[in-house]
Amino acid sequence: MANVMITGASSGLGASLAKQFAARGDQLLLIARRELLLAELQAELLAAGAPSVEFRVVDLADEIQVQQLADDLPKLGVDVLINNAGLGHWDLSWNTSSEMMRTMIAVNMSAVAVLSLAFSQIKHEQPARLINVASGAGYALFENSIPYSASKFFVTALTEGISQELSTNKLMMRAQLLAPGPIATEFMINAMQGSKIDMENVQGMDKIKFHTPEQMAELAMQLYDSDAVVGAVQGDMTFELSGGLHKIGQLVGGEW
Ligand SMILES: NC(=O)c1ccc[n+]([C@@H]2O[C@H](COP(=O)([O-])OP(=O)(O)OC[C@H]3O[C@@H](n4cnc5c(N)ncnc54)[C@H](OP(=O)(O)O)[C@@H]3O)[C@@H](O)[C@H]2O)c1
Repeated sequence: MANVMITGASSGLGASLAKQFAARGDQLLLIARRELLLAELQAELLAAGAPSVEFRVVDLADEIQVQQLADDLPKLGVDVLINNAGLGHWDLSWNTSSEMMRTMIAVNMSAVAVLSLAFSQIKHEQPARLINVASGAGYALFENSIPYSASKFFVTALTEGISQELSTNKLMMRAQLLAPGPIATEFMINAMQGSKIDMENVQGMDKIKFHTPEQMAELAMQLYDSDAVVGAVQGDMTFELSGGLHKIGQLVGGEW
């Protein structure tokens, strides 16, 4: 039985991931800001037979709260850390406010980095698992989401890099990267809030194909159960498991 901490567990993919791990009999620590949703999910999972479900209200945009959570990781006894919380903004780059950009950097990048590194520091010699949730937009730029894509490129580079360092140093901990395509969650609705893009006139919006959060969580479990480094949804909605795309170059000898 693993002790699994999931950020962004109050809705969407995070809540569906919590259900998947609870169904396997794992212990859960759920992280997000909306306490009521966390409490409702806790009650639902416990009623369905989950052995242990705790939650903690944390604003991952607040660096002090993130550091506190990172400092508490040893006593929380987490074996599997899933950095899933994230947000986007659908707009041209120059119409993305500096406040929005700072929030994306804080939640999508800083919190992921601080928690990933703190977890790796205490767990690298143990059979622990880090799973960071990026996006297809963490490998390719998509229209009207350049600042978001940039924040997710950071996550793919960080996670694949940690994974390679762990394996080249023959350590037991593993790091994996989940790159979903569009998921039918609150994410897109929130990302379009305050956008200057005229959604009514964006060609092809009605043709975007979405996974449900439940489907995406099932694909995430395929990644979790595999030896792959990356699980990525492709343009045709298939799910590809691979060894990853970023390779660590050698500064000495100039091989990159
Ligand atoms: N939906 C998509 O199309 C899509 C596609 C590719 C990748 N992704 C990625 O998938 C992940 C999950 O997104 P989703 O689709 O499930 O969206 P969602 O339903 O909007 O969930 C986002 C989660 O992140 C949490 N969160 C956001 N800001 C936070 C903050 N400041 N502090 C703590 N928690 C915060 C939210 O909880 P609270 O609001 O309660 O804090 C919520 O639980 C994200 O990393 C996203 O970038 C989504």
